[in-house]
Amino acid sequence: SEPYSLLILPGDGIGPEVMAEVVKVIDWFQANRGLNFDVSHDLVGGAAYDAHGVPLADDTMARAQAADAVLLGAVGGPKYDQLDFSVKPERGLLRLRKEMDLFANLRPAQCFDALADFSSLKRDVVAGLDILIVRELTSGVYFGEPRGIHSDDNNPENEGGRVGINTQRYTSGEIRRVARAAFELAKRRGNKVCSMEKANVMESGILWREEVQWVHDNEYPDVELTHMYADNGAMQLVRRPQQFDVIVTDNLFGDILSDAAAMLTGSLGMLPSASLGAPMANGRPKALYEPVHGSAPDIAGQGKANPIACILSFAMALRYSFDQGDAAAELEQAVEKVLADGVRTPDLMGAQGGIQVSTAQMGDKIIAALAGG
Ligand code: NAD
Ligand code: IPM
Ligand code: MN
Repeated sequence: SEPYSLLILPGDGIGPEVMAEVVKVIDWFQANRGLNFDVSHDLVGGAAYDAHGVPLADDTMARAQAADAVLLGAVGGPKYDQLDFSVKPERGLLRLRKEMDLFANLRPAQCFDALADFSSLKRDVVAGLDILIVRELTSGVYFGEPRGIHSDDNNPENEGGRVGINTQRYTSGEIRRVARAAFELAKRRGNKVCSMEKANVMESGILWREEVQWVHDNEYPDVELTHMYADNGAMQLVRRPQQFDVIVTDNLFGDILSDAAAMLTGSLGMLPSASLGAPMANGRPKALYEPVHGSAPDIAGQGKANPIACILSFAMALRYSFDQGDAAAELEQAVEKVLADGVRTPDLMGAQGGIQVSTAQMGDKIIAALAGG
């Protein structure tokens, strides 16, 4: 069959380390399951800045637009912290999301049973946890205008004389399309959506609540919908996360709430994500898959990074871009088996102990589990 085109952007820090393990997994599926990928590699983030002076070259952007799916490791790091804002590594990632119009960011948080004792919360709070955060990804305060840092010289009361501006801005259409994505996903899971905003203090939050309710009433009346203020949502996520099925929220709240949800699963190194656009003519969405974590400068280059978030991101690609749900499940089960066997990267080593392995050894164990070993 026609190969699927897969563009791999390892990025910075632990990005290339975890991506190397994904490449092993891709090779395994090609060799053993008849999947056919046309894999190419390119630069993003600080790595692209070092080579081209920009965090994402136009040519790379074009290749991402043309690919069936993009897999990204992570971007950023202390080496680039002092760069001008416009060429910071993070801008490369944000450009990909914006220009590919990847408005629905799916961040599932599942607690594997083997890690239930490792979470910072009690076992009975997290065991069996399976929630999905749908984060709006191409609008809100991340992209709203006006923005910038300006002088505020006419205001003598302002010590320092500057003002920093960002704008939270949502159109009804932007809210409706991400709400639809959340309801569609909920129909295939627990049939419940909780929408989070701060309608008590923000007009954009009022619009958010009204439009999500509109999509519900007109298109998905059979899905259960509740609304929650995002601060309460943060508290409820930690108090009793199993009350949730699908959470839909804006770009900034989704960023924060998904990092919090990560710790319910044991480690930020466990959380995958899929960023999806509208379906194209071929019925498939434009898509970028990446772990929720960053470049982890504190452990980069030491073989300590947990590759599971990136590997599970590839499992999401198998499911959402390539229609390979069986292969995705097979990969997820291999990860589950390795964890059940007590195999642990350092981030997963707690009081319970386990067999400590490096990034590459974790990849090898997952391949062995796939092969039935
Ligand atoms: P981070 O996610 O990189 O790290 C937070 C903590 O989690 C660190 O202690 C790190 O060691 C640990 N951690 C993260 N991933 C891990 C993994 N796979 N295995 C084991 N431990 C892991 O967040 P940060 O430190 O706030 O940010 C570092 C850099 O990464 C910044 O430049 C930031 O902008 C960038 N960042 C990029 C992305 C992305 O590329 N999508 C996401 C978040 C942060
Ligand atoms: C994430 C990251 C990014 C974000 C940064 C690196 C731009 O934190 O993917 O969660 O804020 O969206
Ligand atoms: Mn984040």
